[in-house]
Amino acid sequence: MGVAAKIAPSMLSSDFANLASEAERMLKFGADWLHMDIMDGHFVPNLTLGAPVIQSLRKHTEAYLDCHLMVTNPLDYVEPLSKAGASGFTFHVEVSKENWQELVQRIKSKGMKPGVALKPGTPIEDVYPLVEGENPVEMVLVMTVEPGFGGQKFMPEMMEKVRTLRERYPSLDIEVDGGLGPSTINTAASAGANCIVAGSSVFGASDPSAVISLLRSSVEESQHKS
Ligand code: DX5
Ligand code: ZN
Repeated sequence: MGVAAKIAPSMLSSDFANLASEAERMLKFGADWLHMDIMDGHFVPNLTLGAPVIQSLRKHTEAYLDCHLMVTNPLDYVEPLSKAGASGFTFHVEVSKENWQELVQRIKSKGMKPGVALKPGTPIEDVYPLVEGENPVEMVLVMTVEPGFGGQKFMPEMMEKVRTLRERYPSLDIEVDGGLGPSTINTAASAGANCIVAGSSVFGASDPSAVISLLRSSVEESQHKS
């Protein structure tokens, strides 16, 4: 037994001009969640989408929208994103040291699932208080590339963080994001990740549904072994 596998295609690799049909296609191919990368051009050197796009997409799907906030001031996004129909709200620990308690409480009060993400250079200990506090986050996202862009190379050295988290929190949702695909999934799944974000490997595949089912079976098989 383990925590449920969640396969989350990153819509950053989709055709933004056809977001609704791209989302529908991924769900038909077996995606559990749709990963939405929200960037502000400050926290990361790229600008993507925000609440208006989430709101537009929400009109076309009931899917779980797994929002990854690569922004300097996540607190400002809680209200607009909840109104827009976001499901998960994952903020970065690097910008939330001072106000994570208020942030988590506001996210939960809006009915969204709070998660915390950390960049490759951030030590895993930094998220412990957020998982162990009175008002804990419900997911930890371990970045396996520097946030900002799709199509980068997976950093296997991040698996130490995943292993440490899985040993400490057997039932926590642990997400990995960046460079995941058929050649890296076994490394991540055997370290204990259960929520898998994949952009270029899914959207760039000739058979995306085969990639999604391979990602899922790798997570499920790793759990049977442990
Ligand atoms: C990067 C984003 C990722 C990205 C992953 O900052 O957080 O979600 O879309 O893309 P791939 O799977 O192509 O590395
Ligand atoms: Zn992401």
